[in-house]
Amino acid sequence: MWLPKILVFSALVGVACCKQNFPPGFKFGAATAAYQVEGAWNVSDKSESIWDVFTHDHPEAIIDRSTGDVACDSYHQWQRDVEIASELGLHFYRFSIAWTRLLPNGFSNYVSEDGKEYYSNLIDALLEKGIEPVVTLYHFDLPQSLQNLGGWTNPLIANWFGEYARVAFSLYGDRVKTWLTINEPIVYCQVSYSTGIHAPGIVSPDFGSLMCSKNAVLAHAKAWRIYDEEFRQKYQGKVSLANLLFWFEPEDENEQEATDLVQQLWSGVYTHPIFSKDGGWPPELEKKLAEKSRQQGYTGSKLPPFTQEEKELVGGTYDFFGLNFYTARTARKAQAGEKVGPWPFIGAPDLDVVMSVRPDWKPQASQLFFSYPRALRLQLSWVKQQYGDIDIFILENGFVGYDADLNDQDRVNFYRDHLEQVLLSIKEDGVKVVGYTAWSMIDNYEWSDGYRSKFGLYAVDFADPQRARRPRASAQYYARVIKQHSLDVHDTNKLTDELY
Ligand code: GAL
Repeated sequence: MWLPKILVFSALVGVACCKQNFPPGFKFGAATAAYQVEGAWNVSDKSESIWDVFTHDHPEAIIDRSTGDVACDSYHQWQRDVEIASELGLHFYRFSIAWTRLLPNGFSNYVSEDGKEYYSNLIDALLEKGIEPVVTLYHFDLPQSLQNLGGWTNPLIANWFGEYARVAFSLYGDRVKTWLTINEPIVYCQVSYSTGIHAPGIVSPDFGSLMCSKNAVLAHAKAWRIYDEEFRQKYQGKVSLANLLFWFEPEDENEQEATDLVQQLWSGVYTHPIFSKDGGWPPELEKKLAEKSRQQGYTGSKLPPFTQEEKELVGGTYDFFGLNFYTARTARKAQAGEKVGPWPFIGAPDLDVVMSVRPDWKPQASQLFFSYPRALRLQLSWVKQQYGDIDIFILENGFVGYDADLNDQDRVNFYRDHLEQVLLSIKEDGVKVVGYTAWSMIDNYEWSDGYRSKFGLYAVDFADPQRARRPRASAQYYARVIKQHSLDVHDTNKLTDELY
């Protein structure tokens, strides 16, 4: 009689344990970005980026009037960063190259020796610890010299970016096998040009944001094609872009159409041309924006069309789908005469869509972010449903707090709840999620929110000239998940000495 009981027991334990395991080969990492951590804004021959100029000229645009001049001082403290990545047991570390550090002119006619060496050392040190470098080429910090020529609204940016990418691929392609061309064009095109709250601080919601969007897609495609034609055979790496998707759901069952439209303006603009079979802009959105432009008295659509040649250049330029995911919104059609709040966080005036959140989505410190873990699973299925059974790499996901507390239970819960949804997506929905990245490895400069918003697994003491880094409870939790390759770990209810 006892034998079957044991069998039943171990079967149950087995099921419980393995349900929580990540597939073999699933990778865990953490991310940062150059302007947010490096500091050293003017060392050696580095030139100014749009964020250097924006924060220096417009301190009032930043909540605590701070700059990224020193930030986490990772330009000098990079060895400590590598140590942290190793303490966490990361499989990969995602960081970005500052265009202005590598190519101070913005153009490829001159490559900085210091810039070249800085990233080379970082890459080598990571590899020595068995940590894969995952490198983003563009994370919001355009050379000001190129901004002076129109920046992302100048169609020539696709060539300038292509040249920059070629330099980076040839310097580091032997050691870097995963590349992200651009990070979150929705943020540096639509958030930036719709509101002016991000560098370069130009408000041009009608044209700036959509011109930038088209040029961003073309720049990504140029860089991908350069890799494909000149480097792939030799280096066998993978290239994609990192898109920030917000999950949208209808406020009620009649609002599906409004929801689909807003999802396409947010996500489709940077995914449909690249990942869909037909290419080009999402057709419904293209129609709606053309109609709206006519109503507003414009002679053509505000959404610049693609030529057939451009469509072909862009189509299929991916090796996986890169997803940054944080939060969600509801959507509904505006009532007649109702004022629609500004795009992109609370409304889409061009689409007459009003956005909101549900009362049970837990607000985080910043009003932008509400925790709704199931949305991550739904978002992953959306990508699969739209673009087929492709590898999806989660490149950012994280929780914002305003206090520097090391005992960050809310963040531990956030990671646990979101990783649970990733497992469900893989196991129940059959979505090919290949990796997960925590944003961020360390507290850093959160754009117009300065140092107020904290996302780090490690806290950084910004009053300390050394910028000391200390692990939070979430670091302990994440390290355990990585080590066990499973969510079946004890939650850290308080900080302990036992770690790593
Ligand atoms: C993303 C961005 C990161 C970081 C994060 C948290 O949009 O790529 O740089 O700021 O959000 O807000």
